[in-house]
Amino acid sequence: MGFSEVLRAATWSDHESAEDDGYLKSLMAGRLSREAYGEMVAQHYFAYLALDGASKALAGHPVAGAFVFPELYREQALIRDLTTIFGPGWSDRIQPSKPTRTLVARIDQVADWPGGYIAHHYTRYLGDLSGGQFIRMELQKIYGYERGGGVDFYYFDIGSLPRFKDEYRRRLDALDLDEAERQRIIRETKLAYQLNTEVLGDLGRLARAAA
Ligand code: HEM
Repeated sequence: MGFSEVLRAATWSDHESAEDDGYLKSLMAGRLSREAYGEMVAQHYFAYLALDGASKALAGHPVAGAFVFPELYREQALIRDLTTIFGPGWSDRIQPSKPTRTLVARIDQVADWPGGYIAHHYTRYLGDLSGGQFIRMELQKIYGYERGGGVDFYYFDIGSLPRFKDEYRRRLDALDLDEAERQRIIRETKLAYQLNTEVLGDLGRLARAAA
């Protein structure tokens, strides 16, 4: 079995916990205000500054460099979304939550280990290119956002998404990994899911408190 398939199979139960999150369920059901949605966009902003910062630092790396795609960087898209949701003063309005600070610290901590970087990159970007597209369509129905601000985070200028994901999986399969390293990456991916799910859990508590 190629590593992409192994990784997916080994972490799919973690995906189910992430997908099952109460905040995402409320969001998809249209039960949250624009500001409550904006809180997730704000947390994405801090997480992707870290992730894309790690990518920039690894651009020439012989192994991790295969997973550096400048066309995926999210900072500018997130700034457009935050400006649309909170207005031009968005940066005074947002701060990283405790779980986001933990996620960011972990991304920074493992950024000098190609497998660790790949684990976090895979968990976020392959998700944004998969379920994220469904999330975007729901958000557009609920809040009426068009491309240009609001849901730009989910728009990628990479042509065919399925083709890009196939290429991404091909690169995962091409990694030269022994069994111990495969297991380490799987463990880090499970942790990445957990840390991302904790960010959502915190957003859910915030949204319930505000309701
Ligand atoms: C409403 C919430 C979500 C839905 C409906 C959803 C749905 C999906 C679906 C249908 C796929 C498979 C697509 C394909 O085979 O090409 C997928 C893949 C994926 N999702 Fe999600 N997802 C959600 C949330 C999340 C979250 C919160 C994360 C991460 C924090 C995530 C990470 C991933 C990853 C990494 C993959 C790629 C798995 C692989 O093929 O190796 N998803 N998602």
